[in-house]
Amino acid sequence: MTGELSPIDKAKFVAAKRAADMVEDGMRVGLGTGSTAAWLVRCLGDMVRKEGLKMRGVPTSTRTAQLAREVGIEIITLDEARWLDITIDGADEFDGDLNLIKGGGGALLQEKIVATASDQMVVIADVGKEVSRLGAFPLPVEVIPFGWQTTQALIEETLISMDVLGRTATLRMNGDTPFITDEGNHILDLHLQRIGNARQVALVLNQIPGVVENGLFIDICDTVVLGHGDGRVEIRDINQGTVEHDRLDFVESDNLFTDLAD
Ligand code: 5RP
Repeated sequence: MTGELSPIDKAKFVAAKRAADMVEDGMRVGLGTGSTAAWLVRCLGDMVRKEGLKMRGVPTSTRTAQLAREVGIEIITLDEARWLDITIDGADEFDGDLNLIKGGGGALLQEKIVATASDQMVVIADVGKEVSRLGAFPLPVEVIPFGWQTTQALIEETLISMDVLGRTATLRMNGDTPFITDEGNHILDLHLQRIGNARQVALVLNQIPGVVENGLFIDICDTVVLGHGDGRVEIRDINQGTVEHDRLDFVESDNLFTDLAD
């Protein structure tokens, strides 16, 4: 089965599988959104069913909640959990300080709330997500629908004084209609190309009326688990300053590969 996976999917899978091993009995786990996080949810479901892992998950989107239920993970709300032991999620970009751009899947708001309410956030990614400077991936910003065009204009005006290369914002679409987040909001994608001071951009964007949250995750991620297509995995811990190397074997009979969704 794994022979059918592309190298990128293999990289995402090994990163997710290695991160799943960080989950211990009794943990409350934030479950990210996206294709890499979907691998994680499948791996955790497998551990619940086959190894009797006892964990409860707080999903960061309706998509993830649905998948988690399908694979047998007990779901609780963030309010029920109050605080989480670990959140494991994908990212669109990460830099050397483990600052992130997230929101490619439109779930950045719940993702940021859940990650911030966790003892540790672990990002799972393929090597293509690593950048020397954030910004090539368009920065998602969640805005309320009321007056979104005014909010867009305010954002573009604000960007004039920021250290960024591009300054246009586009409304994310889902076919012919605006994309709607789980919270009923819109997403503006900011085409910044290069962000000189990500911390400043993150703070300033959230001051603009109409902006709910932006996809810059600054000082939130603790660890990146980086997967390679050949099964190698690198675990970088920003707090410990350590880099660990591992290798995972693909199990050809693994039924995790039969239900590819995302
Ligand atoms: C969703 C996200 C995802 O984590 C991000 O888009 C990465 O997705 P993928 O694992 O599919 O590459 O932020 O809002």
